[in-house]
Order: sequence, then C-alpha cells, then structure tokens
Amino acid sequence: MAKIVAGVATSHVPAVGAAIDNKRTHEPYWQPVFQGYEPSKKWIANLEPDVVILVYNDHASAFSLELIPTFALGCAAEFAPADEGWGPRPVPTVQGYPELAWHLAQSLILDEFDITIVNQMTVDHGLTVPMSLMFGEPAEWPVRVIPLAVNVVQYPPPTGNRCFNLGKAIRKAVEAFDEDLTVVVFGTGGMSHQLQGPRAGLINKEFDHRFLDNLTRDPVGLTRLPHVEYMREAGSEGVEMVMWLIMRGALNDQVEEVYRFYHVPASNTAVGHIILENRHAP
Ligand SMILES: [Fe+2]
Repeated sequence: MAKIVAGVATSHVPAVGAAIDNKRTHEPYWQPVFQGYEPSKKWIANLEPDVVILVYNDHASAFSLELIPTFALGCAAEFAPADEGWGPRPVPTVQGYPELAWHLAQSLILDEFDITIVNQMTVDHGLTVPMSLMFGEPAEWPVRVIPLAVNVVQYPPPTGNRCFNLGKAIRKAVEAFDEDLTVVVFGTGGMSHQLQGPRAGLINKEFDHRFLDNLTRDPVGLTRLPHVEYMREAGSEGVEMVMWLIMRGALNDQVEEVYRFYHVPASNTAVGHIILENRHAP
C-alpha cells in the first residue's frame, strides 16, 4: 500500500533558482538561504521517498489567461523544465508517475473534486525551485514527481478549506493505491510577499510565524482564513499559501514538526520552510 509519510512546505522564489543556476549560492546574500536547506536535503536523502506529489502554481508558463484550471494534475510520463524567458533551467526533466497520477485523478474526480487532467506540460520555477532546494543538483532527480498545479494567479483561487479537503482526498487516494510506495507531499509558494503596487516588498514575519505554528497547532483554524486576510496580512502573492493547506490536509491530524527555517529577505520575499512528519497513529 502506498503511504504518505511526511509533508514539506517551502517558498519557491524564482531568484533562488537563478542563484543556483548561476553558481551564486555561496555569496553572502544567498549563503544563509541555502544553508537553511542543508538539514532538509539530509532528511529527504535519508527518507528516500519513491514519489513526491508536488503542489505548486504555474506562473503563466504552461498555462496562460486563455486557460485557467483551478487544480491541474500532471499525468504524463515526464515534464520538462519551462522556458520562463531566460531559457529552461538547467535541471533534469521531471519523471512522472502516470499510473499513480491516473489513479489519483480517478479517485479525486469520483470524490467530487473537479481535477483537470494534464497529459503534456512544462514545469516552471514553482516546481523546479523546491526540487533544487530539497534534492540539490543531481544529474537525475532521485524521485518520481506528480505535479499538481493550483490557480493562485487569477482571481478566484480556491479557498484554503477547499485545498485542505483536497489534501484529505489525496491521502485517501494514495492509501488505496496497491503498491508499496513512500510518498511525500510538497506544498509550495509564499510566504508573505507582494510583487507590485504601493505595498510591493511587503513582508509580515508575525503572520508567517503564526501560519507556520498553526500548521501543527491549529490547521483547521488556518482553513478559515479568507483570501482577503492573506492579501491584507501577507500581500497579494501571499495567497499562494493556500497551497500549503493541500499538503497539510494530506497528512494525519497529528503531525510532528521536525524542521523549520525562515529567512528574510530572498529577492523581495520571505522564505519559509517546514517539514512535518505523520505521527504513527492516524
Ligand atoms: Fe509563485
């Protein structure tokens, strides 16, 4: 039986990918950011998951305003890195897991989540930056990846509550997959940041820390945050954090926080990162 054993949340700042690709990770500005992910790389190398279900958002790379799926599940055998204007990132092509992805699509849709099935797409920094932060720079990614792209770019994004319940449905689907697989769910995006307008550069450390605390302490409380509160407290792009609630919903009610990292600034964003492990008893 497949089993979700842990969840990872992390920001997916594009400049982090550029710092890696341009060999700038040891510069004083970037060094503390990458230092913060060293324990995480060891943790995941030790865990050796078979599959990552990677929740992220596409930034007008695979999708545009012509087509805006709320939840798009990657069912293809592989996903090449997207060209976001400077050529594709020099990272390996992501290997998918069509059998499990199609099983997820079937289970989720029959569970009344209207998932868009995607058989061809490229993946942008929203997916590749978390991969680089967690797995470094290998010739091939050591894990298969099922991308789950969430619309948090064009209003209206899904509610946090919808995301949390989707996570629960993902957990049910994974546990019904008849193969022994260790699965980790990534929730990406955030933390507080705003890229445009008079409040560009907004960071709200207090909100971010409270959000990180409540992933363990009161995740159901987090599901009640309306979009306007994310916007007001965490900036217009802070609403990406609803994606973390898919990861949280996919875990047990009781989880243990095994690692946390928070750093400001990286680009004009707060970098937040947390690792939660399922307690053994569900
Ligand atoms: Fe993003």
